[in-house]
Amino acid sequence: MKKILITGASGFIGSFMVEQALNEGYEVYAGIRKTSNKKYLKDKRIKFIEFNFADNKGLKKIFSDLKKQNIRFNYIIHNAGITKANKKQDYFTINYQYTKNLIDALISTNSVPGKFLYMSSLAAYGPVQKGNNLIKLTDIPKPVTSYGESKLKAEKYITSQNNFPYIIIRPIGVYGPREKDFYLYFKLIKKHLQPLIGFTTPNVSFIYVKDLVKIIFAALESNITNKAYFVSDGVISNSMILGDTIKKHLNKKTIKIRIPISLLKIAAFFLELVFGLFGKTPTVNLEKINELKSSWVCDIKSLEHDFNFKADYNLNKGIYETAQWYKKEKWL
Ligand SMILES: NC(=O)c1ccc[n+]([C@@H]2O[C@H](COP(=O)([O-])OP(=O)(O)OC[C@H]3O[C@@H](n4cnc5c(N)ncnc54)[C@H](OP(=O)(O)O)[C@@H]3O)[C@@H](O)[C@H]2O)c1
Repeated sequence: MKKILITGASGFIGSFMVEQALNEGYEVYAGIRKTSNKKYLKDKRIKFIEFNFADNKGLKKIFSDLKKQNIRFNYIIHNAGITKANKKQDYFTINYQYTKNLIDALISTNSVPGKFLYMSSLAAYGPVQKGNNLIKLTDIPKPVTSYGESKLKAEKYITSQNNFPYIIIRPIGVYGPREKDFYLYFKLIKKHLQPLIGFTTPNVSFIYVKDLVKIIFAALESNITNKAYFVSDGVISNSMILGDTIKKHLNKKTIKIRIPISLLKIAAFFLELVFGLFGKTPTVNLEKINELKSSWVCDIKSLEHDFNFKADYNLNKGIYETAQWYKKEKWL
């Protein structure tokens, strides 16, 4: 039985990875924190490992102890990370430094897996660059947020290692059941409000969580290593289409409100201030606006070529399934 370790297993995407790994017959080790909520990790077959990625000694001990028990991972998916933070430094600590700590522990204990898959983000490359209509693998990365910079820095550390078989996955915005940011948009639409940011509607693509997880396992099980991929459903869409699709599946009429970027920046400034007082992070923060006002469409030719990828879910099917789940779970 192949062994897989999935960090950030308690989160939105991580919990779907765990389910898929179990379905595919892996021995699944869920990497969590002491404080992690296990509500999506109830399957009895799951083995748990508690990580504190700040503790280098502790990390080495975990992998040395696993070796003593003859446990060696065929695959590690390093998915733990943050997409929102109050302090910019937190992105670098958690997304970069903790990734580095994990890799250093694997190397120093001679525990490098058959493949190490890193969950980066399209944010590491930044939005479509001037004069282009797609984000291309040949572009020079130009992240527009600290989040994107931290992911890029982690990528660079990974690719600078010798004899370290990696795959880097850079998804565009991921939606689906259990997700909490797109969910806010569902909630607004349920209240008949359909806000649109700025006075233009930039092109964006999306990816449904189950399609993303399908690609991840195809990449792990392939012979390919040391390659990076952008991930989207390959469809050019936008926030208007997204809102209209949600509206259709919630069966609601909405008032469309265009919010000027300048106004949104003022709102984000105050939201950051107020949320910061309570140690929380708003979904829309000043840096996020840099992302929201831009075009995010990426070239997925290499996904199609290497894994024969075709999304099973278009926006309509994915939003339908997501809305059904939010309703079933009484989130809506
Ligand atoms: N969602 C997207 O649209 C998207 C797009 C591109 C890339 N990604 C990447 O995909 C990964 C998963 O994102 P997600 O959307 O599933 O987010 P999520 O639901 O917030 O899950 C994040 C996971 O990372 C763990 N984590 C956070 N900080 C940690 C720390 N300091 N130490 C150890 N574990 C920590 C969380 O553990 P707890 O449960 O204990 O908090 C959780 O399991 C992230 O690396 C993110 O950057 C996401």
